[in-house]
Amino acid sequence: MAGALARVIQGTKSHLGIVAPLTGVSNIPVRYQQTQTSPGKTKYGPLADADRIFTNLYGRHEWRLKGAMARGDWYLTKNILLKGTDWIVNELKTSGLRGRGGAGFPTGMKWSFMNKPSDGRPKYLVVNADEGEPGTCKDREIMRHDPHKLIEGCLIAGKAMGAQAAYIYIRGEFYNEASNLQVAIAEAYQAGLIGKNACGSGYDFDVYVHRGAGAYICGEETALIESIEGKQGKPRLKPPFPADVGLFGCPTTVNNVETIAVAPTICRRGAIIAVVTDLTFIKSFHSETKYPIVKPKSSYGRNVPHGGELC
Ligand SMILES: Cc1cc2nc3c(=O)[nH]c(=O)nc-3n(C[C@H](O)[C@H](O)[C@H](O)COP(=O)(O)O)c2cc1C
Repeated sequence: MAGALARVIQGTKSHLGIVAPLTGVSNIPVRYQQTQTSPGKTKYGPLADADRIFTNLYGRHEWRLKGAMARGDWYLTKNILLKGTDWIVNELKTSGLRGRGGAGFPTGMKWSFMNKPSDGRPKYLVVNADEGEPGTCKDREIMRHDPHKLIEGCLIAGKAMGAQAAYIYIRGEFYNEASNLQVAIAEAYQAGLIGKNACGSGYDFDVYVHRGAGAYICGEETALIESIEGKQGKPRLKPPFPADVGLFGCPTTVNNVETIAVAPTICRRGAIIAVVTDLTFIKSFHSETKYPIVKPKSSYGRNVPHGGELC
């Protein structure tokens, strides 16, 4: 009887993928929890931890405005905005950033499609936070633990394409993420970072959150636009492309959450040597023709540009 029970337990364990710990093996990967201290410094080829863009994906630190600013978000955002559309688009082109939503379309080029002579219609940025692909959970970590990166990214991307507002279309099931995002947006409005005269730059820009109802197809950009408009989330025929006729019949660019959230860091760090395969890292260098290198006036955490500042 005891032997049979032991066999059942062992069978259940192996069915669940639970295996006995291997003695003498110490380098079994462990995912550290919020309450545990992180492992020592790690290095990935030529890239160090300090090159990471996202430094709070595990939620070890404060996700609200104060914590975000301590990690380097919203740092000299006004200066980036004042550098103007062409500068931002060129930085993105130079960076080689490609869309993180799947198709990998070059982001700088996509943004430049919005800069045709105006015909009077407003322009919109739509952020694709549907993340419906089974097993995918990258965007939700950004929204839950680093929402200010996304909001600042919306502002900079919006400026680059002359948009008057961003609509973040978030998967309906992402309740906590939508909630954190909404709180962060309220903080940003309150601090004057978005809204009228965003960051004191003279640019007006609003950010809205729109919750979906959990249909995978709504991740496709034109179905997503239909869904925001209150219709069934069914893809539109192309052409016309969203850059010509998008949200509410106006020029629109749809970008993935991660694509937008990395834009401020790319602009802050200046010219980029390479966007490496793992986009949680970006290696930057300082071109003295672009920015005089000055000592940072104060410490803004490890995500601050290494020695060079926008000025
Ligand atoms: C069926 C389908 C589902 C998609 N789901 C998503 C999604 O959940 N999130 C996303 O960012 N892109 C998704 N896409 C890609 C988008 O249509 C679009 O290409 C992308 O949001 C563009 O952003 P990017 O240029 O930043 O990559 C999906 C595409 C298809 C065809």
